Amino acid sequence: MAEETTTEAHTYPPSEQTTQYANAKADLYEQADADFEGFWADQARKYVTWGTDFDQVLDWSDAPFAKWFVGGELNVAYNCVDRHVEEGNGDRVAIHFVGEPGDERDITYAQLKDEVCKAANALSELGVSKGDAVAVYMPMIPETIIGMLACARLGAPHSVVFGGFSSDALRSRIDDCKAKVVITADAGYRRGTPSPLKPAVDKALEKADGGSVEKVLVVNRGDTDPEMKEGRDVWWHDVVDSASTEHTAENHDSEHPLFILYTSGTTGKPKGILHTSGGYLVQTAYTNSVAHDVHPGEDVYWCTADVGWITGHSYIVYGPLANGVTQVVYEGTPDSPHKGRWWEIAQNKGVTVFYTAPTAIRACMKWGDDIPAKFDLSKIRILGSVGEPINPQAWEWYREHIGHDEAPIVDTWWQTETGAIMISPLPGVTDLVPGSAQKPLPGIAVEIVDDEAKPVERGQTGLLVVTKPWPSMLRGIFGDNERYKQTYWSRFENLYFAGDGAKFDEDGNIWVLGRVDDVMNVSGHRLSTAEIESALVSHDRVAEAAVVGATDDMTGQAVVAFVILREGGASDEDQEKLVQELRGHVGNEIGPIAKPKSVMIVSELPKTRSGKIMRRLLKDVAENRDVGDTSTLTDSSVMDFIKNNLQAKK
Ligand code: WTA
Repeated sequence: MAEETTTEAHTYPPSEQTTQYANAKADLYEQADADFEGFWADQARKYVTWGTDFDQVLDWSDAPFAKWFVGGELNVAYNCVDRHVEEGNGDRVAIHFVGEPGDERDITYAQLKDEVCKAANALSELGVSKGDAVAVYMPMIPETIIGMLACARLGAPHSVVFGGFSSDALRSRIDDCKAKVVITADAGYRRGTPSPLKPAVDKALEKADGGSVEKVLVVNRGDTDPEMKEGRDVWWHDVVDSASTEHTAENHDSEHPLFILYTSGTTGKPKGILHTSGGYLVQTAYTNSVAHDVHPGEDVYWCTADVGWITGHSYIVYGPLANGVTQVVYEGTPDSPHKGRWWEIAQNKGVTVFYTAPTAIRACMKWGDDIPAKFDLSKIRILGSVGEPINPQAWEWYREHIGHDEAPIVDTWWQTETGAIMISPLPGVTDLVPGSAQKPLPGIAVEIVDDEAKPVERGQTGLLVVTKPWPSMLRGIFGDNERYKQTYWSRFENLYFAGDGAKFDEDGNIWVLGRVDDVMNVSGHRLSTAEIESALVSHDRVAEAAVVGATDDMTGQAVVAFVILREGGASDEDQEKLVQELRGHVGNEIGPIAKPKSVMIVSELPKTRSGKIMRRLLKDVAENRDVGDTSTLTDSSVMDFIKNNLQAKK
């Protein structure tokens, strides 16, 4: 989508009404510029209730290892739940849950507090104490959020593994953080039927290395009657429902680990991104307030992400709940049982702030304007986008058909590593430019630089870097400080390297152009080329594999794989079958989201003389472009072969 960026796009100034109502005022930028640490101290005291106040805002003396709000103590779960009840808002709905089969449940803050306390007591009974890791492998149901908050309350870092990941992916994540307990469900609803989760946990634990897991806590969501292992597996309804609603929230250090979330990097091994308590909560709450412009008690907010991704952590669980927001949590897919499901829910629940990903917007565009038109979306006043660049066409469609030609759209750039939104317009303040994430938020400092770390001129493409530490920054890669330094802080001195290409337009708006490393972005999900390549090579018929992310109209990028078979190759009829088998194999190894869109069987791969696969050329082929400079190839006829073979298939 990057090519479509233009500086001549139409701009949309905020309406007077939006400006007046908005949480953010234009002087926020000046405040942050005038006193960086003072600004963050103010946000920390505004958005978070501290058990013990902090005495230092930032300790950067051991850079790149940051400490924020040093000396401060807090309980994150207390901030997300108890304090709202204490402030008299216990009757406010925290979660309007909508299950895919149509079951609904409203949970008030008072009820959420009771549930979180019960779950914290039950987890303690199961042996979880401060510092123990808990893996969470769940569908999108309230118990997922309750379980995460119960962990936070105990100071037990959670590691949520997206329910669409395979048992192998789950196992490696459980092993890496040595989880003591796994919270899971028998199944979650997907397109009308319960899709099992518990069997994947059983399989993961069969093969787990260290056997760190002592207990598995299982929610009955789908009545699928899973196998329960004696002595290890316990039902949520047996141990949580009967637990006491009294639980004292202990204060934890501001830098106490809150969670680990694995994300794809440039190597085959996913990185466990570590986030801690105080700074993370401050920035998620602050950004949810100024960028999503939520007004607790008035708005009905809905972020459509899955809790298994960072967007779900920061903008379903921690940010909105810290702010005391009322939100929709929906279990299923946007098109089940019909393509208007999201808009029907938005209408019925009176959604006012809606946050989703460009890939979903493009799918809705394809399904047709008449679908959202059937529903009353007039209450929507703010729209958000996250996960990948949003092309101006999709932006305009989103505004017109979902935002009834009025609602401001915030295109928010951030990453698992940044923990919270970094670049985004502010509703009521910014003149919106479709397709651009526009400006770093007040308190955030970014630059676009060339290979020598020099800022590039406006209009020139460079690398996006963050120039000052920020409160919700990752504190490291779990168990691998060296990799943390290497990945983010070695390319440039004292600058955080984000891995994205970007440019400023003439007006100083930022256009994020996508990854510059071997990370792909498929439907807003991060996948690593190396991880999929190693999954392919683990199949006994594959000798070598190269994977590229090719531009795709619908999903942003699509996974395209080139494989060389082992001795014997494959006959023509066999090839079709094998391609399907390989796609399935990747699905089993990593998860269905990683399945290549196409797999091409080739006899050779383009390599430089030093033996490095030239993915750039494969990308040219996969995107139907003329193949670029092949002069460094050992054998330039390889590319002709691959191209001819591909054309023959079309
Ligand atoms: C991409 C998701 C352009 C980017 C929160 C980044 C975006 C990666 C945007 C992080 C945006 C995210 N415009 N690109 N508004 N938001 N990205 O860790 O390439 O799953 O580096 O975090 O998504 O993906 P992650």
